This record gives sequence, C-alpha cells and structure tokens, in this order.
Amino acid sequence: MTSVESSTKTAAASLDVERLRADFPILAQTIHKDKPLSFLDNAASTQRPSSVIRAISDLYENDYANVHRGIHWLSERSTDLYEQAREKVRGFINARSVEEIVFTSGTTASINTVARSWGDANIGPDDEILLSVMEHHSNLVPWQQLSERTGCRLRHLPISDDGLLVLDELDTLLGERTKLVALAGVSNVLGTINPIEEITRRAHEAGALVLVDAAQSVPHQVTDVQASGVDFLAFSGHKLLGPSGIGVLYGRRELLAAMPPFLGGGSMIDEVFLDRFTPAEPPTKFEAGTPPIAQAIGLAAAIDYVSEVGIEAIAAHERMLTVYAHEVLGQIDGVTILGPAPEHKAGIVSFLLDRIHAHDVAQILDRHGVAVRAGHHCAQPLHERLGTTASTRASFYLYTTREEIDRLGEGILATQKVFRRRK
Ligand code: ALA
Repeated sequence: MTSVESSTKTAAASLDVERLRADFPILAQTIHKDKPLSFLDNAASTQRPSSVIRAISDLYENDYANVHRGIHWLSERSTDLYEQAREKVRGFINARSVEEIVFTSGTTASINTVARSWGDANIGPDDEILLSVMEHHSNLVPWQQLSERTGCRLRHLPISDDGLLVLDELDTLLGERTKLVALAGVSNVLGTINPIEEITRRAHEAGALVLVDAAQSVPHQVTDVQASGVDFLAFSGHKLLGPSGIGVLYGRRELLAAMPPFLGGGSMIDEVFLDRFTPAEPPTKFEAGTPPIAQAIGLAAAIDYVSEVGIEAIAAHERMLTVYAHEVLGQIDGVTILGPAPEHKAGIVSFLLDRIHAHDVAQILDRHGVAVRAGHHCAQPLHERLGTTASTRASFYLYTTREEIDRLGEGILATQKVFRRRK
C-alpha cells in the first residue's frame, strides 16, 4: 500500500500528514545547521512528490521524443502520454472535452492568451472589463495592456476592510458594456475564497463572460467548470505539486473555436502557404511550437497524486491549519492578520508585524527554518488598498503540519525580540 492509499483511509478524520511527507524528499532536510525545514511558501510554488519526479525521469529515460510530429515509435509513445495528460486535466476540472484544454507555460500565459486572442478580436473602446482590487498582477496587467490597445475601460470590484469582495457593488458595476469579468478564485494574499458561481451567474445575466484566475484555487478546492459555468479558467502546474513551465487554459469549446490564434509557428496550423495560413482546431491552435511535454506528463502524475489523497480532504486539512494559524498568530501582540475569518479563507495567512518590515520578518523566520514569502506578492494595488506596501505570507498544502505553524509563531516572537533589543 502506498502512503497515499494508507493516509487516504483516514482522510475523513484527517490526513496522515507524516506519511504523505515521506513522499516529498525535499521536506526531510534541516537547514541553517539543525533547523527542520518548515516550507510555508506554497502559494508561490509547491514541492513535488517522488511519483511526479519519477514520471518525468521515466519519460526521459524511456519514452521521450517530440510530439505530434513523428511517425516513429518514440514520438507516438510520447504523444500518447502527452494527450493522456490532457485527458487527465479535463477530468480534474470536469471540462466537457479535451478540445477545451490548452497547455500553456502557466497561469500568466493562459490569461495573456485570452487577453490577446479573445480580447483583441472582441473588445472595443466602448467596452468594459470588470476586475477586482484583490487581483494578482497577472490578472491586471494583461487587461491594462488590452485597454492600451483598444481603449476599453477597466472597472474594479472593491473589497471590504476584512478582504471580501463587495458583491453589492456588482449590480452597479455590471452593465451592458461589460464584456468580461476576470477574477481570482482565491486571493493569493488574503486567501479569500470568492463566490465564483454566484458571480458567474450574475455576469452571465448581464451578458458578460467570466474568466477565473484559478492559480490558487484549483490545487486546493474542487473545481468543476461545468457546474460553475465559467467561460475561461487559468491555472499552473507548479502550484499543484507539478513541474514549473506548464499551465492550463480552459476555454469553452465554442469560444476557443472562434478565437484567432495568438502565437504563430509550428503545430498551430492546418495549412501554410507563402502568404497565408489556416489555423488548426483547438486546442492545437493555441499550442505553437514544441509544447511542455515532460511538464504535461509530470502534471498528470501530480493530478493523480492529489486526486488519490482527495481534494476535499486537502481542503479540510488546510481549513484546520488556517483556523490554527489564526489562533497562534492571534495570540501574539503586534500581529495583524490580513483578510477574512478562516471560514472564508483557503490555506493562506498573510500578516503584518507592528513596526517591523515584512522582509525583516521573513529573514528572521528563515533563520528558524521557516520559509515564507514577503513583499507585495505581485498584488501592489491590493496592498495599497490595505494601507501597506508589504506583508508576510504563510501558505499551506497537504504536507503542512501544526508543528510548522507553531514554529512560525515561535519565529514571530523571536523576530519581535530581536527588534525590541535594537530599539
Ligand atoms: N503568484 C505566486 C505568488 O503569489 C508567485 O506568490
């Protein structure tokens, strides 16, 4: 029995995290001489289990060749594995068809593809795109660039002081000019879980399409694109225990079929003449050049791993950790936790320490073996709304333990002590 099988048996109660951790060789190390590594930077990127590492090395040792090009055995084998990975992704987010699954290099590339391809073809100066104040730069800048090209207006759903979208404003902001609502499923700073189904319903009633930046939601909660009705969804492999360099763009079949290709080159064509080309059908139309072959196959192995543990069990584990982190950090004077109460949050807890800069906090935490991210986390407008320039962020995944959160708390106390001494 693998550790995943044995720990899943107890998933209803809680994950057997110690057994799962044995699948992640990188987590077993001590740093700075004798400090156990507490990896609390999972919103930036996760770690890989041995099964993912093995899937990639097996490919390179046995099955690798370029895909969709050769008629030789290795190319067919590699192509089969690559297309099986697409089917795996389809099932994971419950898309209707593999034609709706485009492999990209990451969430950023997926959103840029929609902005360039769908945006340039469909958006004009009288149109509006509705975003929110809590977006990651990758769901702000591509739309700002589209606005520069087309003259369209960008509007922003505000947030409350505790980091929830102000849905009452939707009726004012959504109008007949709104062509697209593009929002994060989960905020990468506040951890806020946004009510995507409700927003999608209201956006569709107003005649707008919906794009979800699902980089922080797909790895942590059940995603069903048919149930939610979203039109586009973007996420990355490396936040889901998979390799970096691979992402997914889900788009409804009829939308992808009508969109012009964004990048031109090999693979994405049906026929090429000296003066023109005809594009291939989706998803190939959006996969110019040699795609991320090993990364797609690694992503499929990661989806197998996460599915075997169970995404609901992972979500429950992270909820328990988030509640615990609020308890631990809430008891420390001088700590301000950003974002809503744990019941509205995924496994992301960002905080401020009175009079101590986030970079200093992260540096001292690192000396205690605790890896966190500090800064604006690619969300400068959000930090401005919160009245700060930087925060410290702890983010969890299926292998995170309560002891690691205890170490975070101890590290924060040690940080405060250092700065008290310096006064
Ligand atoms: N988008 C990643 C983060 O929020 C890199 O840290």
